[in-house]
Amino acid sequence: MRSWSKKETCNLIKISVSILTCDFSRLYEQIKQAEEAGVDMLHLDIMDGNFVPNITMGPGVARSLRKKIKLPFDVHLMINNPLDYIEAFSDVSDILTVHTEAAGDIPAILKKIKSYNIKAGLAINPDTEITAVTQYLEELDMVTVMSVHPGFGGQKLIDSVLPKIKQLRQIADKKGLKPDIEVDGGIGPDNISAVVSSGANIIVAGAAIFNDKTDVKNAVKILRDKIK
Ligand code: DX5
Ligand code: ZN
Repeated sequence: MRSWSKKETCNLIKISVSILTCDFSRLYEQIKQAEEAGVDMLHLDIMDGNFVPNITMGPGVARSLRKKIKLPFDVHLMINNPLDYIEAFSDVSDILTVHTEAAGDIPAILKKIKSYNIKAGLAINPDTEITAVTQYLEELDMVTVMSVHPGFGGQKLIDSVLPKIKQLRQIADKKGLKPDIEVDGGIGPDNISAVVSSGANIIVAGAAIFNDKTDVKNAVKILRDKIK
């Protein structure tokens, strides 16, 4: 399993690169560029066309990438009935995140994810209250706070989620817990420091890294410099 130590994670800010907006005709090449540019994780957005109005990839694509990419795989399931797909993604995930809005039996899902010895995450959409996840904090390795409505890359960050991140980090601190807090969607050089100072320690970035105006290495460097 290519995971990372919780201690290290909570101290350092990690960049998880989302491939949703990369050039899929050059998928491997672009991921390699991001890996060489020093991103920390690979964020795979799995969409079923039901939970979100878009369809992306399945475990097969992740499996072929896993043979060549050494980054930890941060798999984000934006699908209905996620319980039915935990096994299929279990060997291609270092952390597997499901949405509370689609989950159904969350304790059963978390138990199943952990039974494969992978990290468990819950994601909440911009309009979902943090109470949807705070009740599970003791069992979670990560909470993903969506800063866009899920389905597409390249959207604008919804600023009203920032206080949610702050509140979530405060509740975790009060409970003496150190879950990773990942923020996903619309993050770029102009808002990454606000997201980090709200309490996030994992930043998902797609368009900010793969947009065609900059080269990948330079794009990652710009994000890193903004975090310092
Ligand atoms: C949206 C996905 C995000 C998105 C991030 O549904 O979950 O991971 O691809 O991409 P950017 O950084 O382009 O918003
Ligand atoms: Zn995502």
